[in-house]
Amino acid sequence: MKIVLLMCVLLVAALTLASAQNLAKIASDLAKGGRHVCPYCGYCGYQYKCDRSCSHAACRMCVYRFHCSSTCIGLCRLPETTPRPATTTPSSTTPKETTPVSTTPATNTTINPNNPKNFTFDKFKDVLDAVEKLFPDVPPEDLIHKLRMLVSRYDTPFWKTMYLVNDKVPFVGRDVSPFPNDPASQEAFDYLRQTMLHSIKDTDGDGRLEEQGVIKIGDDAIALGHVITGIAAGYDRHSISGMDNLAATTISGDLGQSGHKNQLDSTKPLIGPSGTWNGEKFTLDGPYSMATDAEILGDIDGYIMGSRVQNDPTTPISSRVKEYYKDGGDHERRFEIFKTLITKQELQKETEEFADNYEIIHGSVDDIQAAENAVNAFCARFNEELGSWCN
Ligand SMILES: *[C@@H]1O[C@H](CO)[C@@H](O)[C@H](O)[C@H]1NC(C)=O
Ligand SMILES: *[C@@H]1O[C@H](CO)[C@@H](O)[C@H](O)[C@H]1NC(C)=O
Repeated sequence: MKIVLLMCVLLVAALTLASAQNLAKIASDLAKGGRHVCPYCGYCGYQYKCDRSCSHAACRMCVYRFHCSSTCIGLCRLPETTPRPATTTPSSTTPKETTPVSTTPATNTTINPNNPKNFTFDKFKDVLDAVEKLFPDVPPEDLIHKLRMLVSRYDTPFWKTMYLVNDKVPFVGRDVSPFPNDPASQEAFDYLRQTMLHSIKDTDGDGRLEEQGVIKIGDDAIALGHVITGIAAGYDRHSISGMDNLAATTISGDLGQSGHKNQLDSTKPLIGPSGTWNGEKFTLDGPYSMATDAEILGDIDGYIMGSRVQNDPTTPISSRVKEYYKDGGDHERRFEIFKTLITKQELQKETEEFADNYEIIHGSVDDIQAAENAVNAFCARFNEELGSWCN
């Protein structure tokens, strides 16, 4: 409680100091259509929790929403009971129009994964193809959000803020909708959800941990959800709370969490482990961090694919993914490509910013140290692939 109060006081003080210099930034953000927001307003993504209940630690910190709501478009607002000051919206902030699309399934394409646990890339690709055929009018920039939204964990206020979609306040970001509840596609949706939902469980009760939500590509296990969240960020890329949302929804998100957890409890590993395929099961080789090898590979793949989206935004998601993961495709050169997209210093900065945001609700740590430790652990683990990038 004391810590929360202290953080509150510090936050308010910091925000008061920051407010003057932020006003110019806010004005320019508004002129850009409100898609870029002042750095600290992203925290107010937790406002939704505040609206419902004030028991959450983050809610007590939401005092600064008053500041945000009067200066930043949209992202933060007063509680329902307090009249919201009218925001004057420059004409350039007209929300991005999205063409209404028919989400009615086109045909009764049969998708019947006879083995729902066939978590191979071949199966995933077949199911994704079939879903795309069922929704031929849905453009890739919407399909990717529909895929993401199959996993409710990737559709919390935090994620909405990260993507700047479905904000409750008009004129901010754009609206995206989930797949319609269509019985004919339910099995396909369930399969996709299972392949994207990352979790670690002792499924047999034998003390050996199974990593789920990974697909098998060659001998690798790839956390597919992270690939999808990265591609989605590519369509709605922006900087938020000092973070590049593409990094935050992929690699710096995992490294930031991992570094944060390790700062709170130094017995927690910072990276890994890898695992072993045993038929359908991927069993972890030891105690796990918040950045397993499968998550890191998925993060890197998501980061690479997300960074390319704007070059060819109309390419169907299935084609993008197939091209990347085909034999001889770029997944075989992922580290080489990754190293050209971001420097170690930039990754460390992103990781630090993520840890800084993350600690608001998960407890305060030294985020510079957390980021440094996590990125160094990443370098040590993938030393062979990263080479001089780590110097
Ligand atoms: C499509 O499948 C649904 C559910 O299986 C069924 O109720 C419906 O009649 C089918 N429609 C067509 C046109 O075949
Ligand atoms: C898994 O799916 C692929 C692609 O659809 C298929 O070729 C393969 O036979 C399936 N394997 C099993 C064990 O069902």
